[in-house]
Amino acid sequence: MRFNTAATAATLLLAGTVRAAPTSTTHSTSHSTTGTATTSHSTSHSTSTPHTTSTSIVTPITTASSPQASPTTSSSVVLVPTTSTTSLASTPSTTDACYVTAFSAVAAATAACTAIILDSIEIPGNQTLNLSKLKTGTIVTFAGTTTVDFYEADYDIIKVGGTDVTITAEPGAIIDGNGQAWWDGQGSNGGIEKPDHFFVISKLLGNSVVKNLYIQNYPTHCFSISGSAGLIMENIVLNNTAGEAPNDRSGGLAAAHNTDGFDLSSCNNTIIRDSTVLNQDDCVAITSGDHITVSNMYCDGGHGLSIGSVGGKSNNNVTNIIFEDSKILNSQNGARIKSNSNTTGYIANITYSNIYVENISIYGIDIQQDYLNGGPTGDPTDGVIITGVTMTNITGTAESDAKNYYILCGADTCSDFTFEDISIVGGTNSSCNVQPVGDFTCSP
Ligand SMILES: *[C@@H]1O[C@H](CO)[C@@H](O)[C@H](O)[C@H]1NC(C)=O
Ligand SMILES: *[C@@H]1O[C@H](CO)[C@@H](O)[C@H](O)[C@H]1NC(C)=O
Ligand SMILES: *[C@@H]1O[C@H](CO)[C@@H](O)[C@H](O)[C@H]1NC(C)=O
Ligand SMILES: *[C@@H]1O[C@H](CO)[C@@H](O)[C@H](O)[C@H]1NC(C)=O
Ligand SMILES: *[C@@H]1O[C@H](CO)[C@@H](O)[C@H](O)[C@H]1NC(C)=O
Ligand SMILES: *[C@@H]1O[C@H](CO)[C@@H](O)[C@H](O)[C@H]1NC(C)=O
Ligand SMILES: *[C@@H]1O[C@H](CO)[C@@H](O)[C@H](O)[C@H]1NC(C)=O
Ligand SMILES: *[C@@H]1O[C@H](CO)[C@@H](O)[C@H](O)[C@H]1NC(C)=O
Ligand SMILES: *[C@@H]1O[C@H](CO)[C@@H](O)[C@H](O)[C@H]1NC(C)=O
Ligand SMILES: *[C@@H]1O[C@H](CO)[C@@H](O)[C@H](O)[C@H]1NC(C)=O
Repeated sequence: MRFNTAATAATLLLAGTVRAAPTSTTHSTSHSTTGTATTSHSTSHSTSTPHTTSTSIVTPITTASSPQASPTTSSSVVLVPTTSTTSLASTPSTTDACYVTAFSAVAAATAACTAIILDSIEIPGNQTLNLSKLKTGTIVTFAGTTTVDFYEADYDIIKVGGTDVTITAEPGAIIDGNGQAWWDGQGSNGGIEKPDHFFVISKLLGNSVVKNLYIQNYPTHCFSISGSAGLIMENIVLNNTAGEAPNDRSGGLAAAHNTDGFDLSSCNNTIIRDSTVLNQDDCVAITSGDHITVSNMYCDGGHGLSIGSVGGKSNNNVTNIIFEDSKILNSQNGARIKSNSNTTGYIANITYSNIYVENISIYGIDIQQDYLNGGPTGDPTDGVIITGVTMTNITGTAESDAKNYYILCGADTCSDFTFEDISIVGGTNSSCNVQPVGDFTCSP
């Protein structure tokens, strides 16, 4: 039986909300992913049915009897052990393990438990899977397929915050954002109102880790990460490949739009690594923050590894950022730094190194200071300082109508650029109004 140990736990927990552990590894997702939803409300779902015993809270399971990964025959049946994770978080002295299968039981679990398994949760329309006040040291494990019901509004679908928290998933678990129900080619620029941020991480502090997640078909931006310090995000796959094809609402454009992978603001000492992003916008975009390292990323289909757009936000300082050891394929840009027109800000100590690009359609390397309302004006302004930019070993190909390199700085705003071992070929009409030092030539 799947979750043979969790099934034991289930009898102790959240009466009325825990069902028998599934016996197969496939999870039925009965809710519709219709791409033609035109009403403003999702179809009915059963998980919100009030249950007479739902007031009963959990019975803690002590660590000694906590559901360990007792070996099972199927490799997809590994229960993440609550005491032997590789999390940097200190192991809680007592572990209150809670196995949750109903959205309505999540609040009680987050209030009472430090080990939470969320198995095949269906998130109702217009509601947030609210993990924003997790107890210190909590480990949340997604299992099965997490599903999302359609609702036409802009709200956060999953929200996480806390200290020394680990968010992880069992092998084979899927978080499916049901993007098909919202996608119309317009993303957050118009059309159907959409949840603009799928997975919001706010104030995740201490030694927190988000890892091992497989997320597909999110409506617009995926991770919005802010106000966090010391966070590690790793082994994450974001797969919005299904949004690449047009649908009957997108007028021939990719159905999914503005599907940024990781958006960071006001974070420090943060690591994003070993992850895959298959999407239609920035793979990673940092608009503010300090000491952020992004490494070993595989980015396909989007807009590249970006800083910006910087300026006009509550925090416009971007300092000590490293992007390294990554691949950027079939994307508009490779390495990009952009700032907003007529704003102020400070971008310093930025390194891009060991990056391979292929099939770049706009700019291989791009630094530009002329963004306004999400597009370039051609007229750079000089309120955002960009200083200390090092690019090394960036190689690969651009399409023939792309520019290999493009630098458009405001008057006297860019300084201390060093480019070495740069070779992006295939594009034409590179142009740089600032010449970096190093062996770099801004051509062809
Ligand atoms: C959707 O959620 C918002 C915010 O919680 C709320 O104000 C609104 O009433 C909800 N809409 C419906 C139809 O429940
Ligand atoms: C999430 O739950 C916390 C309490 O745990 C509450 O303060 C907060 O308002 C909730 N947020 C959302 C978006 O529901
Ligand atoms: C790092 O971020 C945390 C959380 O926002 C903040 O409290 C702290 O002051 C920041 N540290 C620095 C050096 O900016
Ligand atoms: C991404 O999803 C598509 C289906 O939309 C699938 O064909 C492909 O194998 C997935 N890729 C990865 C890396 O999971
Ligand atoms: C941005 O940097 C400036 C100058 O270093 C500093 O005065 C300001 O407090 C910083 N803002 C934030 C939000 O960190
Ligand atoms: C720049 O911003 C200032 C202050 O917000 C505004 O008055 C001015 O019109 C702006 N200039 C341009 C060219 O957008
Ligand atoms: C940039 O890096 C240098 C050398 O590591 C350091 O001294 C300086 O403080 C950094 N600048 C900022 C704004 O963090
Ligand atoms: C340059 O980057 C590539 C990845 O694009 C890497 O395989 C190679 O080892 C790097 N070269 C050096 C000298 O670091
Ligand atoms: C680059 O584009 C070509 C032509 O469309 C395609 O054959 C190739 O697979 C693409 N490269 C990658 C890494 O997807
Ligand atoms: C490159 O610039 C030349 C001269 O401005 C122009 O004729 C040509 O069309 C441009 N090529 C591309 C691919 O944009």
